[in-house]
Amino acid sequence: MPKSLKILITRQVFPEVIDFLGADFEIDYNESDVVLSTDELCERAASCAGLLCCLTEKIDNTFFEHCPTVRVVSNIAVGYNNIDAIEAKNRGVKITNTPGVLDDTTADLTFTLLMAVARRITEAESLLRQGRWKKSFAVQQMLGTDIHHASLGIIGMGRIGQAIAKRAAGFDMQVRYFNRTPLDATTEQKFNVCYVSQEAILRNSDFVLVMVPYSAATHHLIGAEELALMKPSAILINTARGGVVDEVALIAALKKNQIAGAGLDVFENEPAFNPEFLGLKNVVLTPHIGSATRSTRMAMAMLAATNLKAALQGKTPPNWVNP
Ligand code: DGY
Repeated sequence: MPKSLKILITRQVFPEVIDFLGADFEIDYNESDVVLSTDELCERAASCAGLLCCLTEKIDNTFFEHCPTVRVVSNIAVGYNNIDAIEAKNRGVKITNTPGVLDDTTADLTFTLLMAVARRITEAESLLRQGRWKKSFAVQQMLGTDIHHASLGIIGMGRIGQAIAKRAAGFDMQVRYFNRTPLDATTEQKFNVCYVSQEAILRNSDFVLVMVPYSAATHHLIGAEELALMKPSAILINTARGGVVDEVALIAALKKNQIAGAGLDVFENEPAFNPEFLGLKNVVLTPHIGSATRSTRMAMAMLAATNLKAALQGKTPPNWVNP
């Protein structure tokens, strides 16, 4: 049967997703997975009704001007700072995201980074791989920081922050959080967390995690001033968005041991990152893999496909962010 609506899938996904969407729509599939330039994106989307995309696609006024037939943009991510959702709303374009399905996986990776920095895992492994492990056991070899019973400060206590708090409980950590809106007492009790100011988190935590969405309001939320408040023994972890942390200020703080270390899964201008990070031993760096397990990425891609299909079929998509 001829399919009346065409969609663009901007990046490689899974065959299951192609089958699911292919049953109802004509698909233009960028299977090569090379990120499309703005011109290519606009050109290929110009004949489409919907888009299944990732945070690598900038969906802004230029896009909407060139692609007036696009009615739905479905992001395979919970964060949608790559999309101007307000402009989309003004133009009647539905934007959807993929909340919920990646919380535990992202919390796992956040905790992995925290532990890797605290226990100097990449540094220790390099020592071994480079043949520099000479003394079998040495009392002062690769001394790290305790995770158990340490204080953990979470800035941004949404679903992922709460999933991290659950993990922290297993390590007997004392968890404090800051959020625009405090949790209700029952939820605080459930996760054994206590609300404090952002300043108190920065001043008193052994580990500071930033888990906020990126926007103009959270741009460089952690900059030179905030880093200066942290303890010299503290470790900063960012698995949210690169722009939340001022990388230049962070590098300066790490260089002068103003803080003890950092774990970063996200960067301000991905896939580029400040090369100065590579010269620092007290950082652990990963390439935006917070939600990267097979089952979670499959769940995200299928949820995004479900959102797209529902919206194009005139139903309310489950995860509509700009109603
Ligand atoms: C998200 O979902 O926003 C992630 O950063 C992409 O996995």
